[in-house]
Amino acid sequence: MRTQFLISAALAALTTASPVLINRQLTTVTISGTTPTSYPQPVTSIRGFPIHSSCNGTERNQLEKALGDTIKLARQAAQHVLSHGSTSELYVKYFGNASSAEVVGWYEKLVYGDHEGVLFRCDDVDGNCQQEGHWRGENATDETVICPLSYTTRQPLEALCGNGYTVATGKLATYFAADLMHRLYHTTKIGEGAAEHYADSYAECLELAEKNPAEAVRNTHTLQYFALEVYA
Ligand SMILES: *[C@@H]1O[C@H](CO)[C@@H](O)[C@H](O)[C@H]1NC(C)=O
Ligand SMILES: *[C@@H]1O[C@H](CO)[C@@H](O)[C@H](O)[C@H]1NC(C)=O
Ligand SMILES: *[C@@H]1O[C@H](CO)[C@@H](O)[C@H](O)[C@H]1NC(C)=O
Repeated sequence: MRTQFLISAALAALTTASPVLINRQLTTVTISGTTPTSYPQPVTSIRGFPIHSSCNGTERNQLEKALGDTIKLARQAAQHVLSHGSTSELYVKYFGNASSAEVVGWYEKLVYGDHEGVLFRCDDVDGNCQQEGHWRGENATDETVICPLSYTTRQPLEALCGNGYTVATGKLATYFAADLMHRLYHTTKIGEGAAEHYADSYAECLELAEKNPAEAVRNTHTLQYFALEVYA
């Protein structure tokens, strides 16, 4: 979007006869009529989530790919809300009449937030790896263990909607990226104890949007469903 803006500013500059001063960093456009404001762009250097040395090369590769896909899901979801506001059919379906800032915020925290210490590890440090993975909870509130089972069962985002999957009927953890989104909201740094479980199944999430929009905007499963449906 930023690129688009710069291009349209450049085109506007080319097609006007009025005096125009363009500098690479700061664009000052002096023409009559309406023009977009220009201002220094925010810093966007994103530092990825740390991965613990207990992850071997293969696990690390898969985690990096899946976390990259989580960011992709979050970015598209935030972009959808920024572009269409709080009245799009999809927004109302999942978030009811709630205002949109909190929704955008939860997604953008995943993309631009401080990720230091939000650690993913592969060792069975708490002895709980009989499952796909787990949040370390009281043992380390910003840490997540992704156990061996995840690497063989979670699907890549490219497979979305394959094998008869639909957002409404499929399991939220089918795709590694959506599963990691959920796990990230469990961490204190990302979820702040506010992004939580308020409703679980697809039907319950849609009901929450109608009955309690204020909870829907911070319901982890709702945030996952919405992001998957925007992406699908
Ligand atoms: C925290 O560690 C203990 C063992 O050290 C374990 O029994 C417990 O399940 C762990 N908690 C979580 C949430 O994994
Ligand atoms: C990496 O860990 C996985 C378990 O998640 C194991 O199956 C695999 O053999 C390990 N790979 C290497 C190269 O050690
Ligand atoms: C939003 O919906 C809730 C219930 O779904 C209702 O109680 C509330 O009055 C509505 N708020 C607005 C501003 O329409």
